[in-house]
Amino acid sequence: MQEQPRGPDRPGPLGHDQPGPAEGGTARGPAPSASANFQFPPGFLWGAATSAHQVEGENFHNDWWAWEQAGRVATPSGTAADHWNRYRSDFDLARSIGHNAHRFSIEWSRIEPEEGRWSDEALDHYRDVLVALHERGMEPVVTLFHYTLPQWLAEQGGWENPAIEKLMERYVLHVLEALAPLARWWITLNEPVVQVFKGWLIGQWPPGKVRAWTPALRVLRHMLRAHVRAYHAIHSKRPDAMVSIAKHALALSPDDPTSWLDRWSVAVRGHLFNHLFLEALHTGVLRVPGLFWENLPIRRTLDFIGVNYYTRDFVRNTGYSLPGLVGELAQRDHRQQRGKLNDLGWEVYPEGLAQFLREFSRYKLPILITENGIPTRNDNDRFVFLFMHLWQVARAIADGVNCVGYLHWSLLDNFEWAEGFRPRFGLYRVDFDRPDRPREPRRSAAIYRRIVRANAIEPEVTAEVGLAL
Ligand code: FCB
Repeated sequence: MQEQPRGPDRPGPLGHDQPGPAEGGTARGPAPSASANFQFPPGFLWGAATSAHQVEGENFHNDWWAWEQAGRVATPSGTAADHWNRYRSDFDLARSIGHNAHRFSIEWSRIEPEEGRWSDEALDHYRDVLVALHERGMEPVVTLFHYTLPQWLAEQGGWENPAIEKLMERYVLHVLEALAPLARWWITLNEPVVQVFKGWLIGQWPPGKVRAWTPALRVLRHMLRAHVRAYHAIHSKRPDAMVSIAKHALALSPDDPTSWLDRWSVAVRGHLFNHLFLEALHTGVLRVPGLFWENLPIRRTLDFIGVNYYTRDFVRNTGYSLPGLVGELAQRDHRQQRGKLNDLGWEVYPEGLAQFLREFSRYKLPILITENGIPTRNDNDRFVFLFMHLWQVARAIADGVNCVGYLHWSLLDNFEWAEGFRPRFGLYRVDFDRPDRPREPRRSAAIYRRIVRANAIEPEVTAEVGLAL
C-alpha cells in the first residue's frame, strides 16, 4: 500500500481527531496541500444503502407491517418512499452522484408471502432491480434479510423457532436459483445483534420482549446457524460469491474512565455487541463470558466483513450478574467528552469507524462499510459527517486496512423503524407530505459526488468542509 500523508493529529473544534481547513498551516498542524490528497484504492466501491421495508412501501405481509398497525411506531411505513415503483429513477439519482455500487434488500415476505407459496412477480421485480443496477454500472450488494420476517413465519415463533434455519436456507436457495448470476456480493443478515437487543431485551421492535435473556440467546444461535446455511446455499449457486453479515459496530467508552467496573462493562458489552457474532462465525466458538462456551459447526463462513457504523455510547456498570456487567447506557451529561449530537441524540464520533476498521482487520478479510450515516435535518451536519468519516476511512486505508468500499446510509430519506419518518438520513430529501414523494438532492450529495469522482479527498473539499465547521 502506498504511503499516504497523514493529516494533523490534534483534536479539532468538535473535540475530534479531524482534519483542519486546507488553507494555511494552523496550530493543529500543516494544512493538507494539493499533494496531500487522501486517495482511495482503485476499484473502491462507492454507493449508498437502503432496505426494502424502509423505502419500498406497502410491505403488507411482514411482521413490521403488523407491528405498525398495532400502533407500535411513530408513523406507519405506508407507501414509504415508493421505491418499489421508482427504483429506476432512484438509481439514476445514485448514478448522478457517481455511485458504482448500491446496497438494497430483498423482502422475504414478497418472495414467499405464504409458507411455501413463491411469488414469481416479486422475483421478477428484483431481477429487474438488479438489471437496472448493472445497466447503470453499479455493483449490487444484496441483503437477504433486513429485520423483516414474513408474517406467517413470525406467527410460528419467528427467530425463536429452530425451523427458521431451514426455512431461511430454502428462501435463500429460491432467490439464488434465480438471481445468482446477477449479484456477487451478498449479506445474509442485517445487524443480528441489534435485532436481538431491540426485539428481546428492550422490546422496542417485534416481537417486543423485554429482558428475555434466554430466548435472546436462542435467537442468536438460530441466526448464526441460519447464516451458515445461507452462506453455503449462496456458494452452491455462485461459487465466487462474497458473503457476509452487516455487523453493527457501536463504539463504547466507560461512563467514568477511572472506574475499573465501568471499563469491565465496556469490555463485556463490547464483546457481546461488537465481537461475539463475527467471532463465532470465524472461529466456530460461541462464547458468552461467565455463561457458556459452545462449539458450533460454523467456522469461516465470512468472505468479507460488512460494517455498519453510526455512533458511540457511554456505559455504566450496574452489578456482577450478566445484565449488570453489560451495564446501562450512561445518562450523565458527557458534553465534555462528546462531539455533536444528531437528531436522534447519537454522538458524531468518526474515530470509532477507524477503530473498528482496525479491529476487524484481525479477520484478514476485506472490509466493506455497508452503512454509515446521520439522521439530521441540517445538511451542513451531514456533509461534515460524511467528510469526517471518509477522512477516517482514508487514514485507515493509508495505514494498511483492506477496506474495499463505503455505502452511505442512505440514498433517500426513509422509514426509520420505531421512529417513523422523523429522522432524515437521505442524500436526497423526500417530501413525504406529497403523494408523488418528490426527491431533491442535498448539498451533501454534491460533496459526496466530488469525493467519489476523484476517488480521493481533495484539498478543495477539505477547505470547503473546514469553512463549514
Ligand atoms: C441501522 C439499520 C438501518 C437503519 C440505520 C439508521 O442500524 O441497519 O436499517 O435503520 O440503522
